[in-house]
Amino acid sequence: MEKQTLLYEGKAKKLYQTDEAGVLWVEYLNQATALNGAKKDTVAGKGALNNQITSRIFEKLAAKGINSHFIQQLSESEQLIKEVTMIPLEVVLRNIAAGSFSKRLGIAEGTPLTFPIIEFYFKEDALDDPMINDEHVQVLNIASPAEITELKAMTRAINQALVEMFQEIGIRLVDFKLEFGKTADGTIVLADEISPDTCRLWDAKTNDHLDKDLYRRDLGDIVPVYQEVLRRLEA
Ligand code: C5P
Repeated sequence: MEKQTLLYEGKAKKLYQTDEAGVLWVEYLNQATALNGAKKDTVAGKGALNNQITSRIFEKLAAKGINSHFIQQLSESEQLIKEVTMIPLEVVLRNIAAGSFSKRLGIAEGTPLTFPIIEFYFKEDALDDPMINDEHVQVLNIASPAEITELKAMTRAINQALVEMFQEIGIRLVDFKLEFGKTADGTIVLADEISPDTCRLWDAKTNDHLDKDLYRRDLGDIVPVYQEVLRRLEA
């Protein structure tokens, strides 16, 4: 397999074409960003950690029957994925109140929610990714009602699998963000990454943050805790 033209460069990843149709080459970068890019730093080792963590998580999800665009890890900071057309949504699922939910609604961080809730955000940098509801998703032609139902069902199934996976390694899954894509035949698949950049992970014993909130809130170095998450996933 050969890496070819650069197709896209985002905040955390570069995406290349390969010599095989339908297969893309992803390189995870050492850039950390928060506040939609307003806070930005280079963090040595971050790309390799997120690539390895995402690879382990997508492998474990596949073993639980949840398929994604992931094909295989290539190197510490690279992986191969299936080419899909991205759906411009960030799908957030929350098990426990935290972050923007706590801030907006005045509910203390750490309060368990009666049931897991799903929020949609329109992925559009120029608009700062506004939260939208099911009807906005339809009116903006992002997804049909049947596709919305499917996105939610997939997100709940992924939550169940992830909660179990993290429970086994002493981590509480507070909330996370997913992205989905469509294959040429219209099938919706899980895409992008699942890592401590996109999940809130709290140590089950100490409630310590094992995620990007350390960076967002200037609470400490993310590298040792991302290493700890990877160590536990590989144990
Ligand atoms: O900030 P907020 O509380 O809405 O974040 C909810 C979840 O979505 C967190 O796990 C956060 O890491 C993730 N998220 C993300 N990318 C964004 C916004 C939120 O991965 N652009």
